Amino acid sequence: MARSPFREQLELRAGFLKEMGLDYGMDRPSLLVTPEQGALQRSPSLEAAEPSPEDGDPGAKLGAIREEIGDCRRCRLCEGRTKIVFGVGNPRARLMFVGEGPGADEDRTGEPFVGRAGQLLTDIITKGMGLTRQDVYIANIVKCRPPDNRTPLPDEAATCLPFLEAQIAAIRPEVIVALGATACQHLLGVQVQITKFRGTWSNFRGIPLMPTFHPSYLLRNPVGAKRLVWQDIQAVMARLGMSLPEKP
Ligand code: URA
Repeated sequence: MARSPFREQLELRAGFLKEMGLDYGMDRPSLLVTPEQGALQRSPSLEAAEPSPEDGDPGAKLGAIREEIGDCRRCRLCEGRTKIVFGVGNPRARLMFVGEGPGADEDRTGEPFVGRAGQLLTDIITKGMGLTRQDVYIANIVKCRPPDNRTPLPDEAATCLPFLEAQIAAIRPEVIVALGATACQHLLGVQVQITKFRGTWSNFRGIPLMPTFHPSYLLRNPVGAKRLVWQDIQAVMARLGMSLPEKP
């Protein structure tokens, strides 16, 4: 018998939660999300709202920002980069993820979060949230790879940030997820200890911002941290009206 899309998504999520250290098991589907709650299908709540005239065209705005960046030589990161990693996803996304900066895979492909950490973020989006990467928007604090994957320096972040801010203003997401301390620090203008700061709503220019661990940190600190990230993602889903199961 063919498996229903609901069953398939249920299995995906069960597998994902197991990877996240939360082994609910397939025998307890109520701990996931019921079909009535609707969030296991591509969530209609994540569909872009009807465009209103004053929104302009976020896709065109993003195109103009990309053009403005051009073959950027505004900071030293241009010297080592292969490709500028602008950002990817739905120009009308209700949810935006912001990371730190491109790594080797991103530098090669020009797309954010496609390496190992990216695969984990993609799992969170697809298996965990039941969405696709095209439903959300993904970008970074800096658009060029820092040498040896070091943390972007303050002047590099400051040079690049206006473009990210313009992207956020064009997309106008309802929620931003800041991945790691560097994203929080530059978006919010405060030094944070992510272990203490994560999981508490903050705000970027009126947009609710959820700080959580960076996926690279999860690769190094598997179970405990993954559990906390899943908690943060559940808070985001609730804020976006994506219904959630009862906790056991
Ligand atoms: N880490 C980031 O912060 N961003 C990427 O795009 C990839 C890895």
